[in-house]
Amino acid sequence: MRVRVLGSAAGGGFPQWNCNCPNCDGVRKGTIDAKRRTQSSIAVSSNDIDWLLFNTSPDILTQFQQFPESQPARSIRDTAFKSIVLLDAQIDHTTGLFMLRESKTPLNIYCTDMVYEDLTTGNPIFKILEHYCGVNWHQIHTNEENSFQPEGIDNIKVKAIPLSSKAPPYSPHRNDPHEGDNLGILLEDMSSGKKTFYAPGLGQIESHIKPYMEAADCLLVDGTCWTNDEMKSLGIANKMSLDMGHLPQSGPGGMIEVLRPLPAEKKVLIHINNTNPILRENSEQRQKLTEENIDVAYDGMDFVV
Ligand code: MLT
Ligand code: MN
Ligand code: ZN
Repeated sequence: MRVRVLGSAAGGGFPQWNCNCPNCDGVRKGTIDAKRRTQSSIAVSSNDIDWLLFNTSPDILTQFQQFPESQPARSIRDTAFKSIVLLDAQIDHTTGLFMLRESKTPLNIYCTDMVYEDLTTGNPIFKILEHYCGVNWHQIHTNEENSFQPEGIDNIKVKAIPLSSKAPPYSPHRNDPHEGDNLGILLEDMSSGKKTFYAPGLGQIESHIKPYMEAADCLLVDGTCWTNDEMKSLGIANKMSLDMGHLPQSGPGGMIEVLRPLPAEKKVLIHINNTNPILRENSEQRQKLTEENIDVAYDGMDFVV
């Protein structure tokens, strides 16, 4: 299974348009060693022809342009993307759908009933798309036996794992969390048996998630913040990383400690907030990750699991 990182930043991207934190200011001025990044999304394929898209970032058109295989040019209108899986209804993961409205067939979208509700009420993207290409919704169930093979994708099995977290701020059930608001995913290549665990929003390591993380050959997980109070300490916002559903990397119980004992060959952080010091290639925090055999995703990162 091939994994292509289309975008590796958290909401806002890097640099974020209105931010002058040391990272955003530094990357704009060229005074730090760091790569610009678009908002998070990945694509996977088992045959390098048909691709499954995870989340649709507002930066999707730029991401497609930076990924030539997304346009195989077999007919006057074409795309390599056969299906889309949405892990939540957050703006940074869904609003790119508007940019796909020229599709000549309804978009094949897999998401839970909770995400469907948000995308037909609080932020009615699916309703609006009915006036363009339309949506062919496939419900993702969150019960035990919910593995599915997305339409047009050979040899890849997708298993959805419910994660406790909140629905987006605009959701009618923002303060009444439901199973299905947020997912992690276990992807299995049905030929090789290799498994990838993907969770760009992972706030707590609940006991039901552990077996999937232990079984994975590749872990592609939440890299939003280094510390819980990162945004507060920079004077940006009072929001804590954990309150936003993102487990920080450092400290007791942090993502580094979670990843350390796991047997996966490849460990990668994705959905990195622009304030995170790991964006600086030569920071001590980045050095620490290197020592722990943890990579930091970048746009265009491409690997085989
Ligand atoms: C998140 O990951 O917490 C959200 O995407 C934040 C946002 O709306 O940018
Ligand atoms: Mn996000
Ligand atoms: Zn910033």
